[in-house]
Amino acid sequence: MTTRAVVRGVGHYLPARVVPNAEFEATLDTSDEWIRARTGIERRHFAAEGELTSDLAVAAARAALADAGLGADDLDAIILATSTADLTFPSAATMVQAALGMTGGFAFDVQAVCAGFVFALAQANALIVSGAARRVMVIGAETFSRLMDWTDRSTCVLFGDGAGALVLEAAEGAGTPEDRGILAFDLHSDGRFRSILYVDGGVSTGATGHLRMEGREVFRHAVEKLAQTAHAALDKAGLTSADVDWIVPHQANLRIIAATSQRMQVPMDRVVVTVQDHGNTSAASIPLALSVGKARGQIREGDLLVTEAIGGGLAWGAVVLRW
Ligand code: UT7
Repeated sequence: MTTRAVVRGVGHYLPARVVPNAEFEATLDTSDEWIRARTGIERRHFAAEGELTSDLAVAAARAALADAGLGADDLDAIILATSTADLTFPSAATMVQAALGMTGGFAFDVQAVCAGFVFALAQANALIVSGAARRVMVIGAETFSRLMDWTDRSTCVLFGDGAGALVLEAAEGAGTPEDRGILAFDLHSDGRFRSILYVDGGVSTGATGHLRMEGREVFRHAVEKLAQTAHAALDKAGLTSADVDWIVPHQANLRIIAATSQRMQVPMDRVVVTVQDHGNTSAASIPLALSVGKARGQIREGDLLVTEAIGGGLAWGAVVLRW
């Protein structure tokens, strides 16, 4: 028998304010047409003033607990993937822990930018497979609207705010690719590329800073690396592209999603796409897509999923799981 980390519940939360592309036309030399054509994004949600990353995370976590039929004290751990924690410290995860009323266990943040949820899933899997935890809440939550330079049309139209969460639970599997749960993962980072996507603030500057990106360079790395890491993760699971029911990609740009689907030879009707409604929500985009994909009736129990993401660092990776 093999211990597997199986999805027991999923949920998400999006702030109420929806911002259509056209809203940027008033202040920037841009157009709805350009944004749709180059990115696939049509709208995004922005958090209200005073609505923080941990608030979004708590709402998503509550939805995932309700879906799982569990309470906060049933959890052993919370792992929150974010690059926009409310404060420098403590972790946003401990804020979620307190808000949920969870008095035992432990909570911590994972910071791998847009690849954060993939890294957090790998951490949760390690805790469960090693026996250190039985139930882990894995959340991706971001308020990237707070990192935008509103005069930079090449970045501020791309990002949105939101949160998604999964409850993972230990279950005994047969040790085969037919098991439910996380079957394999593949993680990478390469700090030589740290300057093509970063925030020019932090403790070294005394200010939060703004997101800076060489979009074309990041695009080039994404198209090359995402299919590679997805194939590597499938290979580790003893599976191939032909076994995939759904690619659930990081939602940065529809052209990257389409290029990855083509390289993986998985047709676009087997790809969960939410970028048109959410924009790029960094570490929140994959759990949001999982939750929306399930709600749409696309993702069903037993389906084989590949999630893949790349972002600042560069950091990238993929997880293969059977829902
Ligand atoms: O999640 C983290 C990972 N991030 C990503 O995966 C993002 C990866 N990069 C991208 O998605 C794309 O590179 C962008 C969407 C950022 C840009 O698209 P692109 O097709 O690579 O455009 P570009 O940067 O080559 O720019 C083409 C033109 C430029 O004008 P010139 O120099 O040709 O005159 C830009 O100034 O488009 C211009 N441009 C815009 N025009 C209207 C850039 N942003 C805008 C805009 N509206 N918002």
